[in-house]
Amino acid sequence: MDPRTIQEVVKKTENSQVTMRHIEGVPLLGSTCDAWDSIYGFKARGDDILIATFPKAGTTWMQEIVDLILLEGDVEKSRRAPSFIKVPFLELIPLKPMPSGVELAQTMKSPRVLKTHLPINLLPPSFWEKNVKAVYVARNAKDCMVSYYYFQKISKSLPDPGTWENYFSTFLSGDVPWGSWFDHVIGWGKAMDKHQILFIFYEDMIEDPMREIRKVMKFLGKDLSEEVLENIKYHTSFQAMKENPMTNFSLHPNVDQTISLFMRKGTVGDWRNHFSVAQNIIFDEEYKKKMEGSGLNFRTEL
Ligand code: A3P
Repeated sequence: MDPRTIQEVVKKTENSQVTMRHIEGVPLLGSTCDAWDSIYGFKARGDDILIATFPKAGTTWMQEIVDLILLEGDVEKSRRAPSFIKVPFLELIPLKPMPSGVELAQTMKSPRVLKTHLPINLLPPSFWEKNVKAVYVARNAKDCMVSYYYFQKISKSLPDPGTWENYFSTFLSGDVPWGSWFDHVIGWGKAMDKHQILFIFYEDMIEDPMREIRKVMKFLGKDLSEEVLENIKYHTSFQAMKENPMTNFSLHPNVDQTISLFMRKGTVGDWRNHFSVAQNIIFDEEYKKKMEGSGLNFRTEL
Protein backbone atom coordinates (compact mmCIF):
# COMPACT_ATOMS: atom_id res chain seq x y z
CA MET A 1 0.00 0.00 0.00
CA ASP A 2 1.21 3.50 -0.83
CA PRO A 3 2.62 5.02 2.42
CA ARG A 4 0.60 8.21 1.81
CA THR A 5 -2.61 6.18 1.78
CA ILE A 6 -1.59 4.41 4.97
CA GLN A 7 -1.00 7.78 6.63
CA GLU A 8 -4.47 8.91 5.63
CA VAL A 9 -6.07 5.80 7.08
CA VAL A 10 -4.16 6.19 10.35
CA LYS A 11 -5.16 9.82 10.53
CA LYS A 12 -8.80 8.99 9.90
CA THR A 13 -8.81 6.48 12.74
CA GLU A 14 -7.11 8.91 15.11
CA ASN A 15 -9.48 11.65 14.13
CA SER A 16 -12.59 9.68 14.86
CA GLN A 17 -11.91 10.91 18.42
CA VAL A 18 -12.19 14.57 17.42
CA THR A 19 -15.64 15.89 18.24
CA MET A 20 -17.29 19.17 17.42
CA ARG A 21 -20.04 20.88 19.37
CA HIS A 22 -21.76 24.24 19.05
CA ILE A 23 -21.61 27.40 21.12
CA GLU A 24 -24.18 29.97 20.02
CA GLY A 25 -24.54 28.04 16.78
CA VAL A 26 -20.80 28.07 16.01
CA PRO A 27 -19.14 24.66 15.63
CA LEU A 28 -16.07 24.45 17.83
CA LEU A 29 -13.87 21.60 18.94
CA GLY A 30 -15.54 19.66 21.76
CA SER A 31 -12.47 20.22 23.92
CA THR A 32 -12.76 24.00 23.46
CA CYS A 33 -16.42 23.79 24.50
CA ASP A 34 -15.49 21.84 27.63
CA ALA A 35 -13.08 24.60 28.67
CA TRP A 36 -15.38 27.39 27.48
CA ASP A 37 -15.84 29.14 30.86
CA SER A 38 -12.12 29.69 31.27
CA ILE A 39 -11.74 30.79 27.63
CA TYR A 40 -14.67 33.21 27.62
CA GLY A 41 -13.62 34.52 31.03
CA PHE A 42 -10.06 35.20 29.79
CA LYS A 43 -8.58 38.38 31.28
CA ALA A 44 -7.08 40.49 28.54
CA ARG A 45 -4.55 43.22 29.36
CA GLY A 46 -4.69 46.69 27.83
CA ASP A 47 -1.38 46.24 26.00
CA ASP A 48 -2.21 42.83 24.51
CA ILE A 49 -2.20 42.58 20.73
CA LEU A 50 -4.71 40.18 19.31
CA ILE A 51 -4.32 38.48 15.94
CA ALA A 52 -7.71 37.25 14.80
CA THR A 53 -8.41 35.22 11.69
CA PHE A 54 -10.59 32.58 10.17
CA PRO A 55 -8.35 29.48 10.02
CA LYS A 56 -5.77 29.48 7.22
CA ALA A 57 -5.98 33.19 6.46
CA GLY A 58 -2.31 33.86 7.17
CA THR A 59 -2.35 33.87 10.98
CA THR A 60 1.20 32.58 11.42
CA TRP A 61 2.52 35.04 8.87
CA MET A 62 0.96 37.95 10.78
CA GLN A 63 2.23 36.53 14.10
CA GLU A 64 5.79 36.71 12.81
CA ILE A 65 5.32 40.20 11.41
CA VAL A 66 3.88 41.53 14.69
CA ASP A 67 6.52 39.77 16.78
CA LEU A 68 9.34 41.19 14.65
CA ILE A 69 7.85 44.68 14.73
CA LEU A 70 7.69 44.56 18.54
CA LEU A 71 11.28 43.26 18.59
CA GLU A 72 12.30 46.05 16.21
CA GLY A 73 13.56 43.49 13.72
CA ASP A 74 15.68 41.37 16.09
CA VAL A 75 15.59 38.05 14.24
CA GLU A 76 17.55 36.14 16.88
CA LYS A 77 15.01 37.03 19.55
CA SER A 78 12.15 36.12 17.23
CA ARG A 79 13.61 32.60 17.15
CA ARG A 80 13.31 32.21 20.93
CA ALA A 81 10.41 29.75 20.55
CA PRO A 82 8.11 28.26 17.90
CA SER A 83 5.36 30.61 16.74
CA PHE A 84 2.68 28.46 18.39
CA ILE A 85 4.36 28.91 21.80
CA LYS A 86 5.32 32.59 21.71
CA VAL A 87 1.82 33.54 20.53
CA PRO A 88 -0.71 31.67 22.71
CA PHE A 89 -3.75 30.36 20.87
CA LEU A 90 -6.56 31.51 23.10
CA GLU A 91 -9.07 28.71 22.61
CA LEU A 92 -6.54 25.88 22.36
CA ILE A 93 -7.19 23.35 25.08
CA PRO A 94 -4.35 21.43 26.74
CA LEU A 95 -3.34 18.77 24.30
CA LYS A 96 -0.29 17.08 25.73
CA PRO A 97 2.50 18.15 25.55
CA MET A 98 1.00 21.56 24.73
CA PRO A 99 -0.39 23.72 27.56
CA SER A 100 -3.70 25.48 26.97
CA GLY A 101 -3.62 28.90 25.34
CA VAL A 102 -5.13 30.51 28.44
CA GLU A 103 -2.48 28.95 30.73
CA LEU A 104 0.33 29.92 28.40
CA ALA A 105 -0.92 33.50 28.14
CA GLN A 106 -1.28 33.86 31.91
CA THR A 107 2.40 33.11 32.43
CA MET A 108 3.58 35.61 29.81
CA LYS A 109 4.97 39.07 30.39
CA SER A 110 3.37 42.03 28.64
CA PRO A 111 3.06 43.00 25.89
CA ARG A 112 1.54 39.70 24.84
CA VAL A 113 0.62 38.77 21.29
CA LEU A 114 -2.35 36.42 21.25
CA LYS A 115 -4.05 34.43 18.52
CA THR A 116 -7.71 33.54 18.09
CA HIS A 117 -9.96 32.09 15.42
CA LEU A 118 -13.11 32.93 17.39
CA PRO A 119 -15.87 34.75 15.56
CA ILE A 120 -16.36 38.19 17.04
CA ASN A 121 -19.53 37.32 18.95
CA LEU A 122 -17.63 34.67 20.92
CA LEU A 123 -14.58 36.78 21.75
CA PRO A 124 -14.03 37.13 25.54
CA PRO A 125 -15.52 40.53 26.51
CA SER A 126 -12.36 41.59 28.38
CA PHE A 127 -10.67 42.33 25.03
CA TRP A 128 -13.06 45.20 24.35
CA GLU A 129 -13.28 46.25 28.00
CA LYS A 130 -9.52 46.78 27.84
CA ASN A 131 -9.70 48.35 24.37
CA VAL A 132 -7.16 45.86 23.01
CA LYS A 133 -5.73 46.39 19.52
CA ALA A 134 -6.61 43.58 17.11
CA VAL A 135 -5.15 42.79 13.70
CA TYR A 136 -7.66 40.83 11.63
CA VAL A 137 -6.28 39.00 8.58
CA ALA A 138 -8.83 38.02 5.95
CA ARG A 139 -8.14 35.70 3.03
CA ASN A 140 -10.46 34.98 0.13
CA ALA A 141 -12.78 32.09 0.94
CA LYS A 142 -11.80 29.87 -1.97
CA ASP A 143 -8.13 29.74 -1.04
CA CYS A 144 -9.03 29.47 2.65
CA MET A 145 -11.15 26.46 1.83
CA VAL A 146 -8.35 24.71 -0.05
CA SER A 147 -5.76 25.50 2.59
CA TYR A 148 -8.10 24.35 5.40
CA TYR A 149 -8.86 21.11 3.55
CA TYR A 150 -5.17 20.21 3.55
CA PHE A 151 -4.66 21.42 7.09
CA GLN A 152 -7.53 19.30 8.39
CA LYS A 153 -5.75 16.34 6.84
CA ILE A 154 -2.51 17.01 8.70
CA SER A 155 -3.74 18.34 12.05
CA LYS A 156 -4.38 15.62 14.61
CA SER A 157 -6.58 18.05 16.54
CA LEU A 158 -9.10 18.60 13.74
CA PRO A 159 -11.70 16.32 12.16
CA ASP A 160 -10.68 14.53 8.98
CA PRO A 161 -11.96 16.58 6.03
CA GLY A 162 -13.15 13.57 4.02
CA THR A 163 -13.21 13.90 0.25
CA TRP A 164 -12.80 17.24 -1.49
CA GLU A 165 -16.37 16.91 -2.85
CA ASN A 166 -17.79 16.54 0.65
CA TYR A 167 -15.52 19.15 2.13
CA PHE A 168 -16.67 21.73 -0.40
CA SER A 169 -20.26 21.42 0.88
CA THR A 170 -19.22 21.21 4.52
CA PHE A 171 -17.14 24.38 4.29
CA LEU A 172 -19.85 26.25 2.41
CA SER A 173 -22.48 25.32 4.98
CA GLY A 174 -20.18 26.55 7.77
CA ASP A 175 -19.88 23.16 9.37
CA VAL A 176 -16.11 23.28 9.84
CA PRO A 177 -14.37 24.12 13.13
CA TRP A 178 -14.90 27.86 13.88
CA GLY A 179 -17.91 27.89 11.61
CA SER A 180 -18.86 29.95 8.61
CA TRP A 181 -16.14 31.89 6.79
CA PHE A 182 -18.85 34.38 5.73
CA ASP A 183 -20.10 35.09 9.27
CA HIS A 184 -16.50 35.37 10.47
CA VAL A 185 -15.27 38.00 8.03
CA ILE A 186 -18.54 39.97 8.07
CA GLY A 187 -18.66 39.96 11.89
CA TRP A 188 -15.09 41.19 12.30
CA GLY A 189 -15.46 43.62 9.39
CA LYS A 190 -18.47 45.31 11.03
CA ALA A 191 -16.69 45.60 14.37
CA MET A 192 -14.06 47.93 12.86
CA ASP A 193 -16.37 50.90 13.53
CA LYS A 194 -16.47 50.19 17.24
CA HIS A 195 -13.05 48.82 18.15
CA GLN A 196 -9.35 49.23 17.41
CA ILE A 197 -9.17 46.70 14.59
CA LEU A 198 -6.75 46.78 11.68
CA PHE A 199 -8.26 44.77 8.82
CA ILE A 200 -5.63 43.33 6.49
CA PHE A 201 -6.16 41.19 3.39
CA TYR A 202 -3.84 38.23 2.76
CA GLU A 203 -3.95 39.07 -0.95
CA ASP A 204 -2.65 42.58 -0.21
CA MET A 205 0.18 41.08 1.84
CA ILE A 206 1.12 38.92 -1.11
CA GLU A 207 0.90 41.86 -3.52
CA ASP A 208 2.97 44.32 -1.47
CA PRO A 209 4.28 42.96 1.83
CA MET A 210 6.19 46.18 2.68
CA ARG A 211 3.07 48.31 2.35
CA GLU A 212 1.11 45.99 4.64
CA ILE A 213 3.95 45.59 7.18
CA ARG A 214 4.13 49.39 7.36
CA LYS A 215 0.37 49.54 8.09
CA VAL A 216 0.80 47.10 10.95
CA MET A 217 3.80 49.05 12.27
CA LYS A 218 1.83 52.32 12.34
CA PHE A 219 -1.17 50.63 13.95
CA LEU A 220 1.11 49.36 16.72
CA GLY A 221 2.51 52.86 17.22
CA LYS A 222 6.04 51.98 16.09
CA ASP A 223 8.41 53.83 13.82
CA LEU A 224 11.04 51.58 12.29
CA SER A 225 13.68 52.38 9.69
CA GLU A 226 13.46 51.20 6.10
CA GLU A 227 16.37 48.86 6.77
CA VAL A 228 14.57 47.19 9.68
CA LEU A 229 11.36 46.92 7.66
CA GLU A 230 13.22 45.32 4.76
CA ASN A 231 14.70 42.82 7.18
CA ILE A 232 11.24 42.01 8.59
CA LYS A 233 9.93 41.55 5.06
CA TYR A 234 12.79 39.20 4.25
CA HIS A 235 12.41 37.07 7.37
CA THR A 236 8.64 36.79 6.98
CA SER A 237 8.74 35.81 3.31
CA PHE A 238 7.18 32.47 2.44
CA GLN A 239 10.56 30.89 1.70
CA ALA A 240 12.20 32.14 4.89
CA MET A 241 9.29 30.98 7.04
CA LYS A 242 9.20 27.63 5.26
CA GLU A 243 12.86 27.04 6.10
CA ASN A 244 12.58 28.31 9.69
CA PRO A 245 11.73 25.48 12.14
CA MET A 246 10.21 28.06 14.50
CA THR A 247 7.60 29.02 11.92
CA ASN A 248 7.13 25.98 9.68
CA PHE A 249 5.32 23.86 12.32
CA SER A 250 7.91 21.06 12.09
CA LEU A 251 8.14 21.27 15.90
CA HIS A 252 4.37 21.08 16.41
CA PRO A 253 3.44 17.85 18.20
CA ASN A 254 -0.01 17.56 16.60
CA VAL A 255 0.74 18.30 12.98
CA ASP A 256 1.89 15.51 10.70
CA GLN A 257 3.46 17.00 7.62
CA THR A 258 4.06 13.75 5.75
CA ILE A 259 0.79 14.28 3.84
CA SER A 260 1.04 18.00 3.17
CA LEU A 261 3.26 20.80 4.46
CA PHE A 262 2.00 23.51 6.79
CA MET A 263 3.85 26.05 4.62
CA ARG A 264 2.12 24.54 1.62
CA LYS A 265 1.96 27.04 -1.28
CA GLY A 266 1.45 30.53 0.12
CA THR A 267 -0.17 31.85 -3.05
CA VAL A 268 -3.38 33.47 -4.24
CA GLY A 269 -5.59 31.43 -6.55
CA ASP A 270 -4.67 27.83 -5.72
CA TRP A 271 -8.45 27.24 -5.64
CA ARG A 272 -8.28 27.11 -9.46
CA ASN A 273 -6.43 23.80 -9.14
CA HIS A 274 -9.20 22.35 -6.96
CA PHE A 275 -12.61 23.83 -7.79
CA SER A 276 -14.57 22.21 -10.60
CA VAL A 277 -16.50 24.52 -12.92
CA ALA A 278 -19.74 23.48 -11.20
CA GLN A 279 -18.33 24.09 -7.72
CA ASN A 280 -17.18 27.52 -8.77
CA ILE A 281 -20.67 28.46 -9.96
CA ILE A 282 -22.24 27.20 -6.72
CA PHE A 283 -19.65 29.06 -4.70
CA ASP A 284 -20.02 32.35 -6.55
CA GLU A 285 -23.80 32.30 -6.12
CA GLU A 286 -23.48 31.69 -2.40
CA TYR A 287 -20.79 34.34 -2.09
CA LYS A 288 -22.98 36.93 -3.80
CA LYS A 289 -25.93 36.17 -1.53
CA LYS A 290 -23.94 36.23 1.69
CA MET A 291 -21.50 39.07 1.01
CA GLU A 292 -23.82 41.61 -0.63
CA GLY A 293 -23.69 44.85 1.34
CA SER A 294 -20.78 43.69 3.50
CA GLY A 295 -18.48 46.31 1.98
CA LEU A 296 -15.66 43.77 1.87
CA ASN A 297 -13.90 43.21 -1.44
CA PHE A 298 -11.86 40.06 -1.70
CA ARG A 299 -9.50 39.58 -4.61
CA THR A 300 -8.74 36.25 -6.19
CA GLU A 301 -7.28 37.53 -9.43
CA LEU A 302 -3.68 37.99 -8.30
P1 A3P B 1 -1.53 27.54 1.96
O1 A3P B 1 -2.05 26.31 2.60
O2 A3P B 1 -2.45 28.08 0.91
O3 A3P B 1 -0.14 27.44 1.46
P2 A3P B 1 -2.52 30.03 8.99
O4 A3P B 1 -1.24 30.52 9.55
O5 A3P B 1 -3.67 30.97 9.24
O6 A3P B 1 -2.80 28.63 9.40
O7 A3P B 1 -2.41 30.07 7.41
C1 A3P B 1 -1.59 29.17 6.71
C2 A3P B 1 -1.57 29.58 5.27
O8 A3P B 1 -0.79 30.79 5.15
C3 A3P B 1 -0.91 28.54 4.38
O9 A3P B 1 -1.51 28.70 3.09
C4 A3P B 1 0.54 29.04 4.39
O10 A3P B 1 1.33 28.57 3.33
C5 A3P B 1 0.32 30.54 4.27
N1 A3P B 1 1.48 31.32 4.72
C6 A3P B 1 2.15 31.21 5.89
N2 A3P B 1 3.19 32.06 5.91
C7 A3P B 1 3.19 32.71 4.72
C8 A3P B 1 4.03 33.69 4.12
N3 A3P B 1 5.10 34.17 4.74
N4 A3P B 1 3.73 34.12 2.87
C9 A3P B 1 2.63 33.64 2.22
N5 A3P B 1 1.80 32.70 2.73
C10 A3P B 1 2.08 32.24 3.96
